[in-house]
Amino acid sequence: MTIIDRSRRTLMTFGSLTAIAAVGTPLLSACSKDSDEKEVGAVEDLMREHGVLRRALLVYTETVPKLRADAGSIDASALNRTAKLFQDFGEEYHERKLEEAYIFPKVKQAGGPAAAYVDTLLTQHQRGREITQYILNATASGHIGTADAEPLARAFEGLVLMYQNHAAREDTIIFPAWKNALSGDELQELGDKFEDIEKAQFGGDGFENAVKQIGDIEQSLGFADIAQFTPSVPAH
Ligand SMILES: [Fe+2]
Ligand SMILES: [Fe+2]
Repeated sequence: MTIIDRSRRTLMTFGSLTAIAAVGTPLLSACSKDSDEKEVGAVEDLMREHGVLRRALLVYTETVPKLRADAGSIDASALNRTAKLFQDFGEEYHERKLEEAYIFPKVKQAGGPAAAYVDTLLTQHQRGREITQYILNATASGHIGTADAEPLARAFEGLVLMYQNHAAREDTIIFPAWKNALSGDELQELGDKFEDIEKAQFGGDGFENAVKQIGDIEQSLGFADIAQFTPSVPAH
């Protein structure tokens, strides 16, 4: 059994707690450095948020050929829920409340090669919001009209290509530069602040909830079993 203590951004096993309780050690000491605590740092938090968004992008990618083959057979409400998740969790929380408020200003102030990316990343946030709004509108009625099929397919292709590049650069260039620009204490402090923002935004654990939502969407569209994405060996 696993207990997640979000207030300390830690995760510990039930076994370690019962062992400590058995020898009469106060519960609080279970969170000392000697326990099984596993801290979720600010950068890990940001990167796993990208993981949720990548799963939304995979839904879009899988939908493109279906749009071109038989748009009427697509569950538009599942696509609408995907776009709403991308908007609420990706655009309004991850991008606006974390990256635009804390990450990008610090990276820009620190200068260097990473700082040169910031203006383009901001432009891409804005373009992503416009495309997501288009997807929400095109899927709002619960079915996809013939005239919307090709423009929607192109919107998915454009958003996926942009955001795959965007998140990959953030993971490998922007987040490491941000981490380098902070002291250990500042990083810890901001990690706690991000958790407060997450709670204020979602009234609970936004990440856990987002993972559940994308899992439900994948289930309803038949994408839950990832074995279907294992390719066959190339022919010689
Ligand atoms: Fe971003
Ligand atoms: Fe991001």
